[in-house]
Parts: sequence; C-alpha cells; structure tokens
Amino acid sequence: GCDGSILLDDDSTFIGEKTALANNNSARGFEFVDDIKAEVEKTCPGVVSCADILAIAARDSTVVLGGPSWKVKLGRRDSITASRADANKFIPAPSFTLSALKSNFHAQGLSLKDLVALSGAHTIGLARCTTFRAHIYNDSNIDPSFAKSLQHKCPRTGKDDIHRRLDLRTPISFDNFYFRNLLKKKGLLRSDQELFNGKSADSLVKKYAADSSKFFQQFTKSMNKMSNIKPLTGNSGQIRINCRKVN
Ligand code: HEM
Repeated sequence: GCDGSILLDDDSTFIGEKTALANNNSARGFEFVDDIKAEVEKTCPGVVSCADILAIAARDSTVVLGGPSWKVKLGRRDSITASRADANKFIPAPSFTLSALKSNFHAQGLSLKDLVALSGAHTIGLARCTTFRAHIYNDSNIDPSFAKSLQHKCPRTGKDDIHRRLDLRTPISFDNFYFRNLLKKKGLLRSDQELFNGKSADSLVKKYAADSSKFFQQFTKSMNKMSNIKPLTGNSGQIRINCRKVN
C-alpha cells in the first residue's frame, strides 16, 4: 500500500523493504525525502505524512520534467511496519513477460491500460546493467544494433552497476519517446519491450507513441489509481517525524 513503508531503514531489530530484491542498490534519493520532510516539519509539525510527501514528489517531478500535472488526494498515513517478504513477492521484475506483468498489476487492481501508461514513467531515469543484461544478450525482440551498442557497455560479466538510459532519446524529459523507442524495438528492459511484442499491449503503445496527450491523460488517471492503493487512513499508522523510522 501507499504508506511510506519503503522509506524505513533497517536496524538491528528490523528488516524493511530497502534491501528487497527490486530495491537493493536500486531505489535511491531518500535524502531528498528527508530534506522535504525536515522543511515541512519546521512549518507544520506532525501533520504531513511521508506517504503524502512521496505522492506529491512523484507528481511534482513529473511536472518539472515537462509532463502532466494532476490533483493528489492527501491524508495518507505512514506505516509502522514494512515487509521485505511482501516487497520480494509483489514488486514486478524486469525479466517478466507481458502475461506476468499483467497478472502482477491485476493483483493490485491495475488494468492493462494502467500497466502500459505507468510503464511510460520509464521516459526518465536510468537502469543498471544487471537489470537489462538478459534482454540484450538473450532476447530476439530487440533491435540488433541497439543490443550490440549496449553490450559494449554492459559485458556478460562484471560492470553490474553501470547505468544506461531507460529512454535513450530524451532521458530527462517526461514525453512519449519511451513508446516511440518501443516501436523501434529499443526498449531497455525486457519488461519494457514486452509491451510491444505483437500481443495485447501493442495498440496502446502505438496510441501513446502517436499522441503524447493521450499518454499524459491516461498516465494521470493511472497515477491517481496507483497512489491510492491501500492507503492507511483515520487512526491507522502514524505521521512519522522522521521518514526513516517509526516514531
Ligand atoms: C511494469 C513494471 C516495472 C518494472 C519491471 C520496472 C523495473 C524497473 C527497473 C529494473 C529499473 C532500474 C532499476 C535499477 O537499475 O536499479 C526501473 C527504474 C525506474 N522505474 Fe520502473 N519498473 C516498472 C514500473 C514502473 C512504474 C509503474 C513507475 C512509475 C510510475 C516506474 C518508474 C521508474 C523510474 C522513474 C525509474 C528510474 C529510476 C532512477 O533513475 O533512479 N517504473 N524500473
């Protein structure tokens, strides 16, 4: 759920989600959340949850990079627990096929439309060699010269942590080049290219590649849906003072 559980640090008595398979050496930027939280606590102590800060930061960073804006419902509260086992079980992997991605999203109440539009967030950011190695060496659903150029940077062994752009064309703009790349078989992750593989997601990818306003419209709807999955409200959870630890 959207309860800030990913922000909790491990300590001697507690293992959280930061070291789950998908998050370890991957999820980053926690110090920015700390800075935002510290500012908010100065003016309005004990009111704004870390979970709400994450939801707003996701929206505002989209806007700053040229993407769409949307209204964020507020009032989420923060968890007092986290589960590495659940994170391992539920976060989708870059090796997933289309059908695995679909069932993973369906389990959270998210449709194929949500899956495709939300994957469009890979219009920004980077991925480590270890997350796309299998795709560039083993898969056929990839442009051969694109695969080759990546193989120079990401060898079969070693250099696990070198980063490559998820959107090779415009990695710091929130636009629809992610989808345009997929039409050319230039998706970085297997899970990206699976969305344009001759099956049920193709028509959505084509639609968003052709018209960024259609992508933006669906992205805002799907972000709203995703950011309201199982929030803690009322008296559940707490408003953490420090996002890294339970009060
Ligand atoms: C469809 C299932 C998804 C899979 C399998 C997936 C997988 C990944 C992987 C493997 C990376 C690179 C991580 C690393 O190298 O450490 C990544 C990065 C990223 N993902 Fe996803 N992702 C998915 C969906 C999403 C969604 C729904 C969003 C947001 C709406 C998102 C936003 C991002 C962003 C912004 C980055 C770049 C982070 C950075 O540069 O630090 N992803 N994703």
